Amino acid sequence: MLTTQPNAQRPESLKHHGQQQLDIPTYNGQCYEEVVKLRKKYLTPNVTSYYKKPLLIHKGSGAQLFDQEKSYLDMFGGIVTVSVGHCHPKVNAALEEQLRTLWHTTNIYMHPKLHEYAEKLVSKLPGDLKNVYFVNSGSEANDLAMVIARLYTGNHDIISFRNAYHGASPYTMGLTAHSTWRYPLPGVNSGILHAMNPDPYTGIWGGNQCRDSPVQTTRNCDCQDGECKASDKYYEQLEQIFKYSVPRGKVAAMFAESIQGVGGTVQYTKGYIKRAAELVRTNGGLFISDEVQSGFGRTGEHYWGFEGHDIVPDIVTMAKGIGNGFPMGAVITSRKIAEVLSQALHFNTFGGNPLACAVGIAVLDVIDEEEMQKNSLDVGTYLLKGLEQLREKHDVIGDVRGKLSIPRKINVHRKFICITVRVETCEYKRRCEELTTANRGSKLG
Ligand SMILES: Cc1ncc(COP(=O)(O)O)c(C=O)c1O
Repeated sequence: MLTTQPNAQRPESLKHHGQQQLDIPTYNGQCYEEVVKLRKKYLTPNVTSYYKKPLLIHKGSGAQLFDQEKSYLDMFGGIVTVSVGHCHPKVNAALEEQLRTLWHTTNIYMHPKLHEYAEKLVSKLPGDLKNVYFVNSGSEANDLAMVIARLYTGNHDIISFRNAYHGASPYTMGLTAHSTWRYPLPGVNSGILHAMNPDPYTGIWGGNQCRDSPVQTTRNCDCQDGECKASDKYYEQLEQIFKYSVPRGKVAAMFAESIQGVGGTVQYTKGYIKRAAELVRTNGGLFISDEVQSGFGRTGEHYWGFEGHDIVPDIVTMAKGIGNGFPMGAVITSRKIAEVLSQALHFNTFGGNPLACAVGIAVLDVIDEEEMQKNSLDVGTYLLKGLEQLREKHDVIGDVRGKLSIPRKINVHRKFICITVRVETCEYKRRCEELTTANRGSKLG
């Protein structure tokens, strides 16, 4: 990929990542065959792997991972979770210090780190988004956001996109709209509606100007400056939900990932999210941004993905990159909305745990100090441009997706950003289908 663009400026951040490059460390643990045997015997069979011969990873440092024989450049970050590098020294030091001080109290007691972290984290959010509730995962955060939205509005129906991923708990499994991630259980879909996904690559409408990115689909487009006909069409489909499928003016919420992650780095058509948020609010609902994948500087120019849509959501949920691999999540909303939780006791044993808060503070510091957001912009842009050139050469590459810098035609407020880059091939799709069938059995596959 890099050789396809000999004249491209190589970003500084590609040349080093702030942490020392290690030689392959010695591994003294159980042998590969033994681990495979134990995995098969003791883990539930749904714990799968992307590989025929799964890697046995035993160490990480910065962007490097190691098995017994090789060093790997980690392009996946533990499913978009390792936000500042494996075993980052500053995060490790903060955790070690907290390990020696206090492990656990629960949030019914005061401990300093919880309050320090709350203040620091909400300072990153705009507007009235100043109250935080800590949880342990993205699914938990979205579960709670659903509860809050239903209590606050008194309405039941929640809209998410087809192709969305919001979690795997019984509540969020309903929001998640991939047949492969859904068990046939009653109640999962109670009060959930899935809107047509405004995806200009796989959707029925879309052209080569729809995305907020210089790498567009190769579909034709005759839109003039300032218009996006595909966006209008998808928006009309959303309006149909309000017209036909929910009680008039009574929706609890709409959830959207700012860019779809599990669904394949899907960017929506320009201007859609802003209009959708307005429509939801005029129908009594809250707009909820799921920043589990797109938050914490990952989109390059902005800290939060929703800023790229020029909106301030009513609730923001986050996890993954928040803890660089430490199990954490959070729901952030306004005081007014958060008040609804006071009508009953609500408790979370580990949410806001001292160890998690110590890690969270250090992660926020590292993102700022090491300019991780700028790193996303530079490296993402570099990758996208290189991959786009490969698409021109190879028919097998159908689309290259990611977010970065172009002057926007609609609601121009910001310049450029980038996020996880995705190259989609026909072969990849076929392999996914095969894997799904193999793992889940022909009934679900
Ligand atoms: C956008 C998004 N929301 C929510 C979740 C669920 O997070 P968790 O696996 O921590 O429950 C994920 C997980 O991949 C996700 O990508």
